[in-house]
This record gives sequence, C-alpha cells and structure tokens, in this order.
Amino acid sequence: MTNPRISPALDEQARAILRGNDRGGYTVPTDGLYPYQWNWDSAFAAWGFATFDLDRAWTELDTLFSAQWDDGMVPHIIFHKPDPGYFPGPDVWGTGKSPETSGISQPPVAATMARLILDMDTQAGRERIAALYPKMLAWHRWWRDYRCGSGVVAITHPWESGRDNCPDWDIGMSNVDGSNVGEYTRRDTGHVDPSMRPGKADYDRYIAMVQFGRECGWDQAEIVKNGPFLMADPGITFILLRAHDDLAAMGRALGHDVSEIEGWAADLRAAVPSIWNPETRGYDARDLKTGRFSGRIGSAAFLAYLAGVESPELDARMTELWDAVRYGFPSADPASAEFDPRRYWRGPSWPVVNALMAIGLKDRGHHAAAERLRRETAELIAEHGFFEYFDPIDGTPCGGDAFTWTAAIWLTWAGAAVDTKGGA
Ligand code: GLC
Repeated sequence: MTNPRISPALDEQARAILRGNDRGGYTVPTDGLYPYQWNWDSAFAAWGFATFDLDRAWTELDTLFSAQWDDGMVPHIIFHKPDPGYFPGPDVWGTGKSPETSGISQPPVAATMARLILDMDTQAGRERIAALYPKMLAWHRWWRDYRCGSGVVAITHPWESGRDNCPDWDIGMSNVDGSNVGEYTRRDTGHVDPSMRPGKADYDRYIAMVQFGRECGWDQAEIVKNGPFLMADPGITFILLRAHDDLAAMGRALGHDVSEIEGWAADLRAAVPSIWNPETRGYDARDLKTGRFSGRIGSAAFLAYLAGVESPELDARMTELWDAVRYGFPSADPASAEFDPRRYWRGPSWPVVNALMAIGLKDRGHHAAAERLRRETAELIAEHGFFEYFDPIDGTPCGGDAFTWTAAIWLTWAGAAVDTKGGA
C-alpha cells in the first residue's frame, strides 16, 4: 500500500474492529445489534480484511456463499448460531435451510468486492475466485430470473434493498397491512436509541411481509406475483449492473464464456431509462404494483456512476443534494419533508454508500467529487469513531459503534490521506 495514511492509530483500531467482529470465517456487522452474518456487510468486510489478511478476505466470501440456496439466492442474513438478542430470528423467517437463513437477498456487491480483492493479488486469488465464480454466476442468474421481470431490479421487501426505511419505499409500504402480525418484541431498540431506528408502524409491515413469505414456503415467484410489496430499486439496479461487469471481467480472465452475463447486463442497462423520473429529475424507485414513482430522490440514484450511467442533469442533482449538508452523502433528499438526519436511511450519511458512490465517481473521471466524498467521510470517522451512520449536517454519530463495514471502508478507502489515483 503506497498511499500515505491519515492515522496509523485509526488503521489499527479498524483492524481490531474487524478482528473483534470475526466469529470464525464470518464477521458480524457489530456486536449486539447485528449478531449474524449479513450479506453485503460481509462483502465489504472481505474488502477490509484484504488490506491485511487476503486469505481471511476470501474466506469471508466463501462462508457467505456456503449458505447459497439451491435456486442461486444468497440470503441477506445467515443465522450461524442462535442469538436471542436479534429479532426477527430464524424461527420467524422459517426458511428451513441449513444453516438457517432469511428468505430474501441483499445488494449484490460481492462480485465487485471480489474483483477489488483479486486486483490486490491476482496470483493469490486465482484459485479462490475460480471456486467462487460459478456460485456468483448462479446468484446473478437468480436476480435475473426472480427479480428482473420488469426490466430493472425489483425488491420484495425493503430489507432486500439494504436501505431499510428510506423514503423510496413509503408508497409501497402504504399498501402493506401490518395490523394482523400479532405481538412481538423488537430487540434493535434495546441496543440503540429508538429515534435513530425505524418506527413501529414500519416494523409491523416488515413482519407482515416476512409472514407472507413464510406462509408460501418462500416461493419466490409467488412472492413476486402476489406478495404485499414489489418495488423497482435504483440502488440494486446500479449495483447489479456494475457487478455483472465485474463478474464478466473475472470470468473472462478465468477463460470462461461470459456472453450470458453480458446479455444480462445489456438488458438491464436498456431498462435503466424506465426509472428516470423527470419530475424529481433523478433515478427513482417505482411501485411495480401501480407503476407509480416514489417521487423521492436519495443516495441510491447516484450509484448510477458505479454502473457507468451518467448525465449532466444527474451531476447537477448530486450537487444540489450534497451542498445542502455538511458531510456527504445524505441518504434522503434534505429538501424533502421526509428528511430526518438521524433516522437510519431517511437522511443520515452512510460511509459504505459513500464508498460505493466514490468508486463510481472516480471511474467516471469525477475525481474532485470522489475526493470530497472521501475527505468528508474520513472526517466523520476520525472525529467520532467507526459508527454505523452519521448525521450529515452536524456529524453526530448514530446507530451501532465499532461497525465492521465502516472499519472496512476506512482501511480500503477513507483512511488514505490522499487519493493518489484521483488527486484532489
Ligand atoms: C441494517 C441495514 C442493512 C445492513 C444491516 C446490517 O439492516 O439497513 O443495510 O446490511 O443493518 O448492518
């Protein structure tokens, strides 16, 4: 690593967080609040481990894919060991898998992270990626078969998006009846300040969606057709588009025919204009049951850069949202009525999304914006610690502390004193 670092002491802390959250082959997002293996958290953890332990990095991805379903899905949570501190646990999901898992997926960043790790040492990674490649391919095919019926990627539960309670999902959520879910006890609000978490009405609906999935035996086609929630997600659309390209590049290097992946990517790219909302002047979520746009714009719209999608209008919108806060990038539009700077995905700045956005910005030649994002993210972490998310206006740290993916993106991206490839 030739980049000068902001702080060797913070690097050491970040490594200690990854090691401390390591449960043997997989990493928990943070102790207490999230005691299992989460899909996209794990992919970022692998990237972080790669800065000091490449073997452990590949193992993280191996463990994630060891829970892959026969149909190719890689679940959003893997319940390796029972933990009463989390709700909804395996008994509520009732998927009947071994190991036990949830019944939905999460943003497919794994191929993109694997390629970054592979690039750090192609020789050392060759065998590991050769073994993972068919599994990643099967997962990408699953997205295509079960989630891309309308062209772009649909989600069947807000949790699938990884941006649980962001305003994008409000119109879809309003159609979900959460009144009959029965009694349950949340555990998240015992770990962190409830005002920084989703509200009770949201939670009832989340549970109703889980109950629908369970009742139909997690039949994905049935969930898409008749489930209570189905929305087009700009975030996963862009992430998957990028991941298809990364998977194809790795496949080519391994000598595989990647025309199938190229076809998926071409189809997905062709569908992207269907989520451009001229009213909000941005890529927008759409309720696929009614065709209506959510009418919101948030950080996911700007993952477009990651997928090589851009326009002068998008650049202008990015500046508008960003300049309204001090620490980029807000998860929801600061000019909207829904903006809530400390409530999870309804406003806070998430280091992990900032990192993805910056990768895209840099690839598209927006070096100054990428560097600004890195600098602002680094300030948040250096001043307040490795928190889950932050108030984008005053920097207040929010949610869980000693967070795996925040530590990972510090080691891989935010903690570099200057971005040598990009320049300020
Ligand atoms: C929350 C986040 C999700 C993340 C998980 C574990 O559910 O919304 O993106 O994967 O926590 O950190």
